Amino acid sequence: MQAEISSLRAAAENAIGAVTDARGLDEFRVTYLARKGEIAALFDRLKTVPAQDRPAFGKLLNELRAAVQQMHDGKSAALGGTGTPPVPALDLTLPGRRGFIGTKHPLTQTLDEIKAIFVSMGFGVADGPEIEDDYHNFEALNFPPDHPARDMQDTFFLSDRALLRTHTSPVQIRVMEEHQPPLRVIMPGRVYRNEAISARSYCMFHQVEGLCVDKGVTFGDLKGTLIEFITRYYGQGLKFRFRPTFFPFTEPSADIYISCFICGGRGCRLCKQSGWLEILGCGMVDPNVFHAVGYDPEVFTGYAFGMGIDRIAMLRHGIDDIRLFFDNDIRFLNQF
Ligand code: PHE
Repeated sequence: MQAEISSLRAAAENAIGAVTDARGLDEFRVTYLARKGEIAALFDRLKTVPAQDRPAFGKLLNELRAAVQQMHDGKSAALGGTGTPPVPALDLTLPGRRGFIGTKHPLTQTLDEIKAIFVSMGFGVADGPEIEDDYHNFEALNFPPDHPARDMQDTFFLSDRALLRTHTSPVQIRVMEEHQPPLRVIMPGRVYRNEAISARSYCMFHQVEGLCVDKGVTFGDLKGTLIEFITRYYGQGLKFRFRPTFFPFTEPSADIYISCFICGGRGCRLCKQSGWLEILGCGMVDPNVFHAVGYDPEVFTGYAFGMGIDRIAMLRHGIDDIRLFFDNDIRFLNQF
């Protein structure tokens, strides 16, 4: 047994000298150190050694195993540490990885463009809370107590007193409560309506409200300002249509249509064959609204307008489903 131990040691010394790579080192480990390797086989044979000699042989075998393990570890360190194949060198000629660059949400871009036009015409920008009370969302805006817009069908009520604003018009009231005329402001923000969700409508969308109050403001000012805005935003050469309509907080009131910029007014799918696109609601501020905020309607007049910007952005970019704005799918948003 002694002789076998010595010759195994010599064989291992030879073998380790011949190892030049990780694979060879692993073969060495399997041959000598593994559970079914040569050293383990000798340990198995201890049973056959007379009992009084066993401790001495056991000690020799332990020394052999430690020595061979040391050969293995020394070689492993010399080959590069881990004994696993070395990591391929870093290729410095590969092009770098591009960082992810965000884009502005298409609605933010639309709003930025609208703001820039109104700011250049002397308007300021204001905002107000999305959680409103009945007074600002309806009552001060001259909605009669039984007006259908207050219906549960449309309005998300949060409690007896609080609701999600259904339009940005309550910001008109808040601005007038805080400031005296002359006033020229736009008020962008989110609004909420309890509508069936579809490609065309969502329970939340965005409006830009406008308000101008001063002595002697006329419907002519309203027309001039809004035609200027529409021309700068949508481009020259459009036809306009002002259609009388009703809002509780303006009198007279109008919906503004432009000739369809896709078909030029001949009729297409976008304008539902009418040749016209409705783009905003407007009117002269109702005297009752001025009463609510403590302005004297005999002294001041004003105009107000409101437009939904989700639809504007959809028309502008040819987007056919409003829900895409709110999915926040990067593949969609990155296109703008
Ligand atoms: N608040 C109205 C709406 O949501 C729009 C509007 C605003 C109309 C201001 C006239 C004046 O439909």
